[in-house]
Amino acid sequence: MASEWTERHAERSLKRIVPRLRKNLKTEISGAPEEWNQFEIRLHREFHGLFQILVELYGGHYDFFYHLEALLAAAAESWMERSKDLKALDAAREARPDWFHTQEMVGGVLYVDLFSDNLAGLSDHIDYFKELGLTYLHLMPIFAVPHGNSDGGYAVSDYRAVNPQIGTMEQLAEVATRLRREGISLVLDFVFNHTSDEHAWARAAVAGDPEYQEYYHIFPDRTLPEQYEQHLRDIFPTIRKGSFTWHEGMRKWVWTTFNSFQWDLNYANPAVFRAMVEEMLFLANTGVEVLRLDAVAFIWKRLGTDCENLPEAHKIIRAFNSVARLAAPSLLFKSEAIVHPDEVIRYIDARECRLSYNPMLMALLWEALATRRCGLLELAMHNRSRIPDDCAWVNYLRCHDDIGWTFDDSDARSLGIDPTAHRRFLNEFYTGQFPGSFARGLPFQFNPANGDLRISGTLASLAGLEQAVQAEDPVLIDMAVRRIILLRSIVMSIGGIPLIYLGEEWGLLNDYSFASDETKAGDSRWVHRLKTRWAEMASWKTPQTLERRIYDEIARLIRLRKQLKALYNGGMEVISTQNPHLLGYVRQKNGQRLLVINNFSEHPQTMGENRLRLYGLGYRFIDHITGKERSAREPLQVDPYQFLWLENQAS
Ligand code: GLC
Ligand code: GLC
Repeated sequence: MASEWTERHAERSLKRIVPRLRKNLKTEISGAPEEWNQFEIRLHREFHGLFQILVELYGGHYDFFYHLEALLAAAAESWMERSKDLKALDAAREARPDWFHTQEMVGGVLYVDLFSDNLAGLSDHIDYFKELGLTYLHLMPIFAVPHGNSDGGYAVSDYRAVNPQIGTMEQLAEVATRLRREGISLVLDFVFNHTSDEHAWARAAVAGDPEYQEYYHIFPDRTLPEQYEQHLRDIFPTIRKGSFTWHEGMRKWVWTTFNSFQWDLNYANPAVFRAMVEEMLFLANTGVEVLRLDAVAFIWKRLGTDCENLPEAHKIIRAFNSVARLAAPSLLFKSEAIVHPDEVIRYIDARECRLSYNPMLMALLWEALATRRCGLLELAMHNRSRIPDDCAWVNYLRCHDDIGWTFDDSDARSLGIDPTAHRRFLNEFYTGQFPGSFARGLPFQFNPANGDLRISGTLASLAGLEQAVQAEDPVLIDMAVRRIILLRSIVMSIGGIPLIYLGEEWGLLNDYSFASDETKAGDSRWVHRLKTRWAEMASWKTPQTLERRIYDEIARLIRLRKQLKALYNGGMEVISTQNPHLLGYVRQKNGQRLLVINNFSEHPQTMGENRLRLYGLGYRFIDHITGKERSAREPLQVDPYQFLWLENQAS
């Protein structure tokens, strides 16, 4: 039996490799025998699982054992080089593995260059993060990239060098340490599906080195690309048709799922896996606490499939995870899989990614805001959002990317909604073309072949603030602000880590100036990638400004969230409010029970008193949002876009 075989051979391999590791690291080990001991304990715990996966993926390669040994040597060295500080963090996380579940967790994400010009400037704003209550900070890609268009940093030319305009590796390590001291975990991207065409490996491939050509998916002619393309989806259809780019220098075709300068790595080659493990370990030792696994769904290719979410992609992530457990035990992975909700969930597992974006909740919140109805959201949250207790969703409204209408078609049909027509409606609504729409979004990546379209725009512009401000209509402005706060409150209360795309907290509107920059004009996502205008922000701080109102409400929600122990991750039950405009759920944890009710319509709504008693388990409630009492002796009145966080008051 395979498992018996692997057991035996894992044991034998370990016996062969461990003495060689000890020999290689003799000096280091004699200086820190206890640390080495910890490594060996973890190695014995992890190795069988890791070995099994690697045999499945790479066992057929003649040089399997060479790569296996080199991999473990890299992990061992990396651990021995890991700083005392980070080892202390490893121990602290081990003692409190639930650290990321607490209601104290609040995330933020920003582009360093747009926020503070560079890493040196970032350090000056740590007080701002603290004031807001952030405990998690994701810096968008900051590594060396090609000049001009670099897909916002997602075309990495060197994983060990910060883009000189942004700073240095030393500054990055310093920022990581300073943030950690302030209780903020640093999150960085691991852009591991592809490198830029200027990465040393790509250059070597272009120079004709066959070893490096095998790092990528490179084809002499169109034969295989055409066979693959029969099943592939075009991710950036306005860039090119198909997933391959002709390289004039090599006179060959290169697999490029995203932009033509982003070359997909070939994970079927064990050398690639090993090389990327080394880049991951390097990042881990700079002090990153969470790695966002960029474009996870695409990392494995097989002819005849759509090359998304293949079983081997999961194995690769498990193998990365296993190596991280050895060499940087506190490192967590966050999955960026923007695919069907049921596929998103498959990456969420202690052995893969503890954290994951929640694109379904994000998209369906916008769907509910447009339709004023919660049916699809309710159904999806009920059926498709359960994840293991030791993992957490990262809930967001906007990020640097577009909104794609990810929901299950059969869910829609079961509610009498035609999925295709509905996506068309949502696109018309959020590009402001649907009559009566409040939204001002831009289309992203229209695909004329199938009509697919995604949406760009800031939270505030999509929620109606841009239109309302232009109309100078106080009623519309008020509605837009209420929508913003409603969505924000849901993300704060529904379970998991809320993530703020910084700028949102001030209700910033779309910035159309990207259209005059030729490296950005073709990519409408730049409309919501804004430069922080610190001088203006200072003037917003005076009361009475709109920005201030939005900021204060969001800051207050964050403070409130941190006080309510029911909002600890997990334990979310969607309830039936029997009112299509009201989304309700119960959060129960740590001896506290909250009933959350949200009105998605601009009209007052009611929920029957029997529902309130049934789910609230009582007669008298305090609404933590307004501080007012509510009684279950009468129907619950909910104002336009109002949300209530109700807790039973023992009477
Ligand atoms: C991820 C990023 C996106 C980028 C793509 C290619 O989806 O979020 O911004 O374009 O990967 O790296
Ligand atoms: C990446 C892209 C995003 C796209 C998604 C599709 O995340 O950045 O635009 O919707 O892939 O899977």
